[in-house]
Amino acid sequence: MKVLMVCLGNICRSPLAEGILQRKVEEKDLNWQIDSAGTGSWHVGELPDSRSIAVGKKYGIDLTSQRARQFKKIDLDRFDLIFAMDSSNYQNILKLAENQAQKDKVKLIMNEAAPGRNEAVPDPYWDDNGFEKIYQMLDKASTKIIENYNS
Ligand code: 4NP
Repeated sequence: MKVLMVCLGNICRSPLAEGILQRKVEEKDLNWQIDSAGTGSWHVGELPDSRSIAVGKKYGIDLTSQRARQFKKIDLDRFDLIFAMDSSNYQNILKLAENQAQKDKVKLIMNEAAPGRNEAVPDPYWDDNGFEKIYQMLDKASTKIIENYNS
């Protein structure tokens, strides 16, 4: 299984989502590949935000080998599952899809934990206190992703 986590900048939410799911697949010895990307290009090449690095570190997850990259059309072919953090990311990815098979890969991540609620992982960029909350949300969703797709 190849899984891509997508947010806007690829510095706050999706790097944490990548790190959290990566650790869970290692714990379960699953042959999955995890990556992340942003729909925007402003932060390409940068380390994750220091606040995401800090909350990851608090839970024993190292994000410092990650560098931001922009989502590209070919990702819709290269990955099996593409998880958007919010509906804006979701719509921007879908705009690039060229067929139904590609569209079917794109999902809102929190729907894995709370199906049909279309809940967003809130952008924490302007909220120093938002990082712990998004860690907990992504931890829950990542556990469910493994339950839902490890068949
Ligand atoms: P992310 O957060 O999408 O979770 O990485 C953001 C990071 C940067 C910006 C917006 C959101 N920005 O506008 O630069």
